[in-house]
Amino acid sequence: MSYYSQELVEEIRSRSDIVDVVSGYVRLQRKGSNYVGVCPFHNDRNPSMSVNQPRQMYHCFSCGAGGDVFKFVMEYENLTFPEAVKVLADRAGIELPERDSSPEAKRQSDLKEQILEMNRLAAKYYYYMLRQPDGRQGLEYLKGRELSDDTIRRFGLGCSSKRGSDLYRYLKSKGYSDGLLKESGLVQADEKRGMYDKFWNRVMFPIMDARSRVIGFGGRVMGDAKPKYLNSPETKVFDKSRNLYGLHLARVSRKPNMILCEGYMDVIAMHQAGFNQAVASLGTAFTQQQSVILKRYTDEVLLTYDSDEAGIRAAMRAIPILKEAGLRAKVINMEPYKDPDEFIKALGAEEFQKRIDGAESSFFFELRVLERQYDFREPESKTAFFRELSKKLLEFEAGIERNNYIEAAAARYHLTYDQLMGMVSRTGEQLGDVRRQTPSENPFGEPKKRRQKEDAGLKSQRLLITWMSSDERLYRSIARYVSPEEFTDELCRKAAVLLAGQMETGRLNPAALFRQFEEGEEQQRAAAMFNDTIPTLRSREEEEKALQETILRVKQNSIAWQTEHMDPGDMDALRAIVQKRREIEKLHISLD
Ligand code: GTP
Ligand code: MN
Repeated sequence: MSYYSQELVEEIRSRSDIVDVVSGYVRLQRKGSNYVGVCPFHNDRNPSMSVNQPRQMYHCFSCGAGGDVFKFVMEYENLTFPEAVKVLADRAGIELPERDSSPEAKRQSDLKEQILEMNRLAAKYYYYMLRQPDGRQGLEYLKGRELSDDTIRRFGLGCSSKRGSDLYRYLKSKGYSDGLLKESGLVQADEKRGMYDKFWNRVMFPIMDARSRVIGFGGRVMGDAKPKYLNSPETKVFDKSRNLYGLHLARVSRKPNMILCEGYMDVIAMHQAGFNQAVASLGTAFTQQQSVILKRYTDEVLLTYDSDEAGIRAAMRAIPILKEAGLRAKVINMEPYKDPDEFIKALGAEEFQKRIDGAESSFFFELRVLERQYDFREPESKTAFFRELSKKLLEFEAGIERNNYIEAAAARYHLTYDQLMGMVSRTGEQLGDVRRQTPSENPFGEPKKRRQKEDAGLKSQRLLITWMSSDERLYRSIARYVSPEEFTDELCRKAAVLLAGQMETGRLNPAALFRQFEEGEEQQRAAAMFNDTIPTLRSREEEEKALQETILRVKQNSIAWQTEHMDPGDMDALRAIVQKRREIEKLHISLD
């Protein structure tokens, strides 16, 4: 699992300052001893991610993402741990030892890496096939769709063979087992046929992630058969909701916007016409994660969904997702053509550029769609429409932007600014009233109180870990009074044990402990603890008092837990608990 020695990983870490690394992706601002920035892992416009330099950890208070410098690069670039190690080593100018490529090492290497390698080989294979006699039909099909050799090469287009298991045999000859091949999604198995290729007799579109690694495929029939497109299933490396077709090219397009299309062919046609900022979702609806990814590269997204009903519906679903990520959304009108591919073939790039320049703000697009649902000759229907319009206007932050839209909408519906403004205010008041009336009384008072008490116990434990991990002097003071077993929360106990181990053998380095926590929730909570800021207190006395109280609370909590979990007949245990309670009462905590 781990290819590189712990020493090497620590060497790379020590030369990859987390503030430097994160600054390469996110704008950070100094705030006291911390840095803060807008979290790239969820939809946000406000800075909710803190990066702690002394502890070399980051943590988002809003979505909970957090970890060390490796974790950040893994999450941001969608990499495996060894890949993130490589990225940071390159950045720090540290040479990595050649990785062992014996069969044993291969077997042990990450499943993800192996799937990526199979995908890479498959892409090369399909690409090669396109130039073989067997691939002639595929090449003719792509040429028939007016793709140039250069475009075919740039997108790595290929073709799968007419026979059902050529790729299977090829990959098999490279030493991959049936089990692994199934994990890749490139082959399938059934009882009658045994193992066979997922794709055959289709033109193949390799799907690449932002770093140009092949993560899956789309395959199109060369005629009118159904299904028109076949896509790789989701695998360990292919998450359809977190990737976009064409992103590896569009991210470096240096255009002021991104263009979101519906289909692979649209993206390719757009790039060929010079609109290299085009991307598409992967045969599924546009997702929130995809909008967060786009936000990393741009502030404005232009939609070119098909101009049929399905396309309009898809655009209506995508717009709020884009806006929530803080993106401006516009809609490109492709009438009278169905999609960008057809449009460009018919009218060319220059005309398309005009459509880009004339793209309609998503607000007016939504209004036009909304209008169709109401009958303006019916007073009631008309009122309902203006209520919806007001609600939409309220989605803009109060101020210049909202006022501009009110002005524009008023003009559109032949109202004065004041008339529409009046409607918006009234709707706002009504919505505000509804919010104020929501009941906040909890009918289950008792359990809630109990939960609060438990939470307080947990809070103290977490706070103490935060303190202990913040500096060695504090660690030593606290460790004199609290032992790891006294943490009743499993994660806190684990952290305390790990910190103690570190102190025994060297120096405190919380970031280095991070990977000992299980990936997922455990790591997130650990990152939160190690990265939390200690509340700033006015004086040393205050700090000492707060710390004393926290230590006491953790110890009392431990006793309460033992009392609750002991066997009532066990007199020795009871005696021990009573003894401990007395000790605590007499305990004088001093932090020097
Ligand atoms: P062309 O007909 O080759 O121009 O395709 P297109 O790229 O214009 O695709 P279309 O607008 O028909 O569909 C948009 C996207 O939806 C495609 O790129 C595919 O990702 C997906 N899609 C279309 N048809 C199918 C299908 O039959 N099955 C699946 N799974 N996805 C499909
Ligand atoms: Mn098309």
